Amino acid sequence: MSASISIPVAKSALAVSVSPSTPTTSIHERMARRDSVAASAAVRVPKTLHPVDNEDLRLLLLENISQEAVKTFRAQGFHVDHSTKSMSEDELVEKIGSYHAIGIRSKTKITERVIKSASKLLVIGCFCIGTNQVDLATAARAGIPVFNSPFSNSRSVAELVISEIIALSRQYFQRAFEMREGLWNKQSKGCWEVRGKTLGIVGYGHIGSQLSVLAEAFGLHVLFYDVINIMPLGSARQVESLDVLLHESDFVTLHVPELPETMNMISAEQLAQMKKGAYLINNARGKVVDIPALVDALKSGHLAGAAIDVYPAEPGANGAPFDDQLNSWASALRSIPNVILTPHIGGSTEEAQRMIGEEVSSSLTHYLNYGSTVGAVNFPEVDLRAITAEQQGIRLCHVHNNIPGVLRQVNEILSPYNVEKQFSDSKGDVAYLMADIADVSPSDVYKLQELINKTSANILTRLLA
Ligand SMILES: NC(=O)c1ccc[n+]([C@@H]2O[C@H](COP(=O)([O-])OP(=O)(O)OC[C@H]3O[C@@H](n4cnc5c(N)ncnc54)[C@H](O)[C@@H]3O)[C@@H](O)[C@H]2O)c1
Repeated sequence: MSASISIPVAKSALAVSVSPSTPTTSIHERMARRDSVAASAAVRVPKTLHPVDNEDLRLLLLENISQEAVKTFRAQGFHVDHSTKSMSEDELVEKIGSYHAIGIRSKTKITERVIKSASKLLVIGCFCIGTNQVDLATAARAGIPVFNSPFSNSRSVAELVISEIIALSRQYFQRAFEMREGLWNKQSKGCWEVRGKTLGIVGYGHIGSQLSVLAEAFGLHVLFYDVINIMPLGSARQVESLDVLLHESDFVTLHVPELPETMNMISAEQLAQMKKGAYLINNARGKVVDIPALVDALKSGHLAGAAIDVYPAEPGANGAPFDDQLNSWASALRSIPNVILTPHIGGSTEEAQRMIGEEVSSSLTHYLNYGSTVGAVNFPEVDLRAITAEQQGIRLCHVHNNIPGVLRQVNEILSPYNVEKQFSDSKGDVAYLMADIADVSPSDVYKLQELINKTSANILTRLLA
């Protein structure tokens, strides 16, 4: 047997390789080693898979993605180019052709033009919450899944809300502001402990439920309203309507997504239903609250304070003004006492950044090494349980157009072998099939790959072993 096999592959037949612990081993060597492992294995150990040919995987990480992520990728044997800056579309078009994966934050735009120049690109990692900066549909049609980290900052937001509940209740943000202005203003009127008060959480998802647990530890009674029925944590209680929550709560905090139904969900009518002297907190999305109506409710004294972290329009960069040109009500809101305004920092902590780094690098590695698309935002989510060390087999990862007859064609090609497990799913125009196939000889591996590459709906086929 030759020491390594390498067949030229078209973009649609990309098969790339990295072998962290054994970067130069061929598929033959890996299969032979597996035989000896199988003979000695007493327990079922999951096997680390690698793409079957030997091209080194190159990753481009932009926008100062965490060094933890860089270390994780290098430990996998990937070649990593790291930059603290983003790249323009022209720079990306020039450079992206030699990379198999790219990691970005929110500033780098992955447009259709960039994707068309990305002849080797297998996967995109957004090391942030949102994915608007990527042309998701074009990426999916090119067989490129996109991963992000939507929930890694939930705890950070929940903790900020706890601090805001106390700051509003004790007016200490206002007192601290006065001290900075040189004014001593000691008072207890209108300042309250939070113990025994009622917190109303609107949206009991990742953040709302975390907050529920923290709030009870402070002695708050927790109510929540959500469009779906959710098992309450601790002693929290789900209420049947937003109206009930607004009537009963001393603090109302919003944790819903931005949807047509949640636009201005807190407007003059809802603010009027809140208790006199209650507080409103919005760390969700800017358009969920009708801010001119909130300004009226605060000025009239109906509400005792508010904390706002998100706005309908937000400046694009630090240092930019937050003024009436951006949002016509900005100076009115800024002038009201006991209103805490923060620049969308709910999720901005070192811990959240680290968790984003860990989660997105793990998703990229799982896709490159195992084919798993669980968590991809633009792709069917497919995974298979691990191939164990004693099993002889290869894993097929086949991205194809979502049209009738594809599985019949592929299964005909696989029919001489034992397909041990297989799973396929589709999303929009794209479908993804994973299959573990037993007892394929090294020479058959490439024959299989070629045959599947030639099927009419093929977008991208990789084989892992
Ligand atoms: N300030 C920040 O820096 C920051 C950071 C992270 C997230 N967020 C925002 O916080 C919000 C919540 O995030 P999450 O991770 O908890 O989301 P999530 O998807 O886990 O939870 C949202 C919850 O809202 C519920 N919901 C949807 N529509 C509703 C409606 N009309 N009425 C009541 N409930 C409704 C859903 O059923 C779900 O339980 C999002 O808008 C997100 O963008 C802000």
